[in-house]
Amino acid sequence: MSDFTPPAFPEPGEALAPANPSSDTLTLLARRRSTVAKNMTGPGPDAGQLETLLKIAARTPDHGKLFPWRFIVFEGEARARFGEVLETRLRELEPDGPDERYALERNRFLRAPVVIAVISDVTENHKIPEWEQVLSAGAVCQNLLIGASALGFAAQWLTEWYAYDRVVKTALGLAPGERVAGFIYVGSATADADERPRKAPQVSRWG
Ligand SMILES: Cc1cc2nc3c(=O)[nH]c(=O)nc-3n(C[C@H](O)[C@H](O)[C@H](O)COP(=O)(O)O)c2cc1C
Repeated sequence: MSDFTPPAFPEPGEALAPANPSSDTLTLLARRRSTVAKNMTGPGPDAGQLETLLKIAARTPDHGKLFPWRFIVFEGEARARFGEVLETRLRELEPDGPDERYALERNRFLRAPVVIAVISDVTENHKIPEWEQVLSAGAVCQNLLIGASALGFAAQWLTEWYAYDRVVKTALGLAPGERVAGFIYVGSATADADERPRKAPQVSRWG
């Protein structure tokens, strides 16, 4: 265990400041970059850090208090077992694939010490539109990236092919209607990431 001290999460009903000025947070947001999963290694978050990360991620705006998302955490040898699921499925889909392709699937979740699947769990036929519930799940993913960075870890938001595969979704235990918002890979970086090209914000002013 690290000597990590979790931040003070509020109790329900506790009075909270309307803002938390923090130049560290501005620097993080201005300079955060994804680390590609192939450039990850251990260590990842320990149990206390992971608990904090998930609690931070879940502090996401959510119209109607529906909590329209849930997490599936992959750690330790569960990552290899999920890799076997991916390999088996790919062998079904592409029986003539080269061995390297199968090895890639087998080792996919071993790229990072921790992978967090964010599952979008929409309540259908609700007065809160599906679109808003899906956006909330996206915000959870972004909170994970920011929280991981603040905890000192590299992270990447991936979907790849297996987020959309019917058989893999069943193996994940997804109920009908549930979707993968992202697999958030979290670990330590083996290399710095260069800044990528970014479009300047497209802004207009109404009126
Ligand atoms: C919903 C979503 C799914 C993504 N899936 C993939 C993917 O499957 N493969 C990939 O190379 N990048 C994927 N990305 C992109 C990367 O995670 C990341 O956005 C990109 O590498 C640069 O991000 P940065 O601005 O955080 O550095 C996805 C991004 C989002 C938002």
